[in-house]
Amino acid sequence: MTPVLRLEGITHRFDGLPVVDDLSLEIAAGEVVCLLGPSGCGKTTALRLAAGLEQLQTGRVLMGDREVAVPGRQIPPEQRGIGLVFQDYALFPHLSVVDNVAFGLSEFPKSERRAKALTELRRVGMEGAADKFPHELSGGQQQRVALARALAPNPRIILLDEPYSGLDTALRSQVRDDVLHLLKESGAATLMVTHDAEEAMFMADRIAVMRDGKIVQEGSPHTLYCYPNSAFVAGFFGEVNAFSGRVESGEVQTPIGHVRAEGLRDGDEVTVIVRPEGLRVTTLQAGQSDYTARVMQARLLGRSSLIHLHVHSGENGSGIEWHFHSRMPGIFLPETGTRLRIELDPGQIFVFPARQGRVS
Ligand SMILES: Nc1ncnc2c1ncn2[C@@H]1O[C@H](COP(=O)(O)OP(=O)(O)OP(=O)(O)O)[C@@H](O)[C@H]1O
Ligand SMILES: [Mg+2]
Repeated sequence: MTPVLRLEGITHRFDGLPVVDDLSLEIAAGEVVCLLGPSGCGKTTALRLAAGLEQLQTGRVLMGDREVAVPGRQIPPEQRGIGLVFQDYALFPHLSVVDNVAFGLSEFPKSERRAKALTELRRVGMEGAADKFPHELSGGQQQRVALARALAPNPRIILLDEPYSGLDTALRSQVRDDVLHLLKESGAATLMVTHDAEEAMFMADRIAVMRDGKIVQEGSPHTLYCYPNSAFVAGFFGEVNAFSGRVESGEVQTPIGHVRAEGLRDGDEVTVIVRPEGLRVTTLQAGQSDYTARVMQARLLGRSSLIHLHVHSGENGSGIEWHFHSRMPGIFLPETGTRLRIELDPGQIFVFPARQGRVS
């Protein structure tokens, strides 16, 4: 099946420096793809190039079989059949809510535009505000209107840039849930930009992780979370404990246990990443003398508890003091000073060559 949107070998420079570097990405009908990466890695620039808001310098943009941008020749955004939603909603302040949504419906006869716009507003639960003006709405309400406006002409492609960033936590989860259902119903190909890994996992069928203008890993949320290909990707999906070490007899010794180092050679310098949820702590039974840690503080975060631990490497508690985090489900709040036994979950531990070791 031909992808609906295709970015091919796109490189884009500002002042001579590449901010998008040989980026290729395909999105099929009905698919939601998230570009995920830290601030400044080139996400918005990539989206603007896909939309045609930026002049393409190198590569191609295709919509279906149609070439919509090559260097020196490109179709303007309004002729591409795309729906755009940006971070700041960008509603027209002088138009009412319903007129904002009707704005993109020029292909419909004038008499039908209002009815169609009202139908779109109903889909996002905003038909009651049809005759209000944008400044009379909250951020979340404006966001829904912006979305209704983008979806109204039934675009085959939807481009979203950090569309929930102006919303508070509760509203954000509600709006993004609504948006996901709307997008899936519409069958459009969606490219969404975010720097929030959890949001990307919530929304995306596929995530492309970007760093310094390049896609460093692409796959389903499950693949990226369970099989990150670098410390950077692992660290992007939540806070991690990181240790450096060296492979000896196929293993790396860390202050909290031995870790298998598959695919690496003895003598290799490595970075070991342990997710806090992969570091479990249990009550120490008499006679157990394997890896232990002492509780510095335990904090309830709601659905889980975060336990700050310290451990001393070396004999009898001498040597370096290490500080790391364990995340336990539910309420688990051991007293400060308690000694606990450490268990590692191999599925939440990753070992990478040290040269890729930078977490952020
Ligand atoms: N018009 C421009 N002129 C010069 N430099 C630019 C321009 N637009 C973006 N940049 C630079 O390009 C780089 C990538 O910017 P971009 O907005 O694509 O990043 P981003 O990944 O969307 O970041 P954020 O998460 O903060 O929105 C940044 O270093 C930025 O300063
Ligand atoms: Mg951006």
